[in-house]
Amino acid sequence: MAKQIKHKPIVGCMRWGVWGENFTTKQYEEIINQCITIGLNIFDHADIYGHYTTEADFGKALKGNSNLRSKLQLITKCGINMLTPNRPNHNIKSYDTSASHIIKSVEQSLVNFHTDYIDSLLIHRPDILIDVEEVAATINSLKQSGKVKSFGLSNFTTGQVALLHKYINVEYHQVEISVTHLNAFDDGILDQCQVEKIQAQSWSPMGNGLFTEQTEKNIRILFTADELSKVYNCSVNQILLAFLYAHPSNIAPVIGTTKFDRIMEAKNAMEIELKREDFYKLWTASTGKEVA
Ligand SMILES: NC(=O)c1ccc[n+]([C@@H]2O[C@H](COP(=O)([O-])OP(=O)(O)OC[C@H]3O[C@@H](n4cnc5c(N)ncnc54)[C@H](OP(=O)(O)O)[C@@H]3O)[C@@H](O)[C@H]2O)c1
Repeated sequence: MAKQIKHKPIVGCMRWGVWGENFTTKQYEEIINQCITIGLNIFDHADIYGHYTTEADFGKALKGNSNLRSKLQLITKCGINMLTPNRPNHNIKSYDTSASHIIKSVEQSLVNFHTDYIDSLLIHRPDILIDVEEVAATINSLKQSGKVKSFGLSNFTTGQVALLHKYINVEYHQVEISVTHLNAFDDGILDQCQVEKIQAQSWSPMGNGLFTEQTEKNIRILFTADELSKVYNCSVNQILLAFLYAHPSNIAPVIGTTKFDRIMEAKNAMEIELKREDFYKLWTASTGKEVA
C-alpha cells in the first residue's frame, strides 16, 4: 500500500473546561488562535465535556467572530446521557441515539458554539438499542439542512460500524489507540477503517494513565520511549505519536494537552518516521512479551 499523507493532530478540548484547566474566554481565544496559526484547526468536543459546559465555554470565543469560526472545524459528539446536576432529568447514565435526542443535542451544540453548522458529528458510544435506519434518516436530514457536514462514530465494534455503514456513510471512527491501548491494531478496527476509507482517530494518544500510574507496563513503555527519544532527538510525547503515525491506516491523533508547547510538539511529530523495529520495541514494552 502506498504511504499516505499523515493526518494532522486533532486538538481535543475535553480538558480545557471544568474537567481540566478551566480556561477563561481570553485563554480559549489565545490557544485557539495559536493552534490555527500552526495549521491545527480541527477541535474535538462532546456535548458532555465539563458536564455539558465545555462546548459553551469554547463557544464564547467564537461569539460574534464569524471570521474565527470560518477558520476552524468543530467535531462534537452526542449519544450519552450523563448523570449530573446539569441534567437533573437523567436518572441513570445511559445511551440515547433516538432522532429526538440527536436533534436536540445538535441544536444545543449549535447554540453553545454560536454557529449554524457542526463540521463533524460523531455518535459517542454504541447505544445497544440503536435503530440504524432512524440514525441514518436523522443524520441525512441534519446534513440536508446544513447543520451537520459529516458523520462518524466513536467506540463502536467493527460489526456495529459495518451495520451503520450499510445505511449511512461513516467518515470517521474515533477510538482509544495508543502504546498502552493496542486493541484497535488487531481487533479489526483499523483494518476496517482502511477497507471502508473511514478516517481513524485515536483518543488518549499519550496512553491513558501512562504518566500518572507507575505500573510495570507503564515503566517499561516510558523507559523504551525515553531511549527512543534520544535516538530520534525528540520528546517522549513525540515518540508516542510517531508510534501511531507508523501505522498505515493513517491515524489522526486527538491530542488532549492543555499546553500549547505540547500541541506544537504534536504537530512536529508528523515529521518523525519511526523505524519498524522501533515500533516493535514499543509494542513489546507494552505487551511485556516478544511477538510470537
Ligand atoms: N471519543 C471518546 O470516547 C473520547 C474519550 C476521551 C477523550 N476523547 C478526546 O480525546 C482527547 C484527548 O484525550 P486525552 O486528554 O486523554 O489525551 P492525551 O493527549 O493522551 O492526554 C492528555 C493528558 O496527558 C497529559 N500529558 C501529556 N503529556 C504529558 C507528559 N509528558 N507528562 C505528564 N502529563 C502529560 C496532559 O497534561 P497537560 O495538559 O499538562 O499537557 C493531559 O492531562 C480529548 O480532549 C477528547 O477530545 C474522546
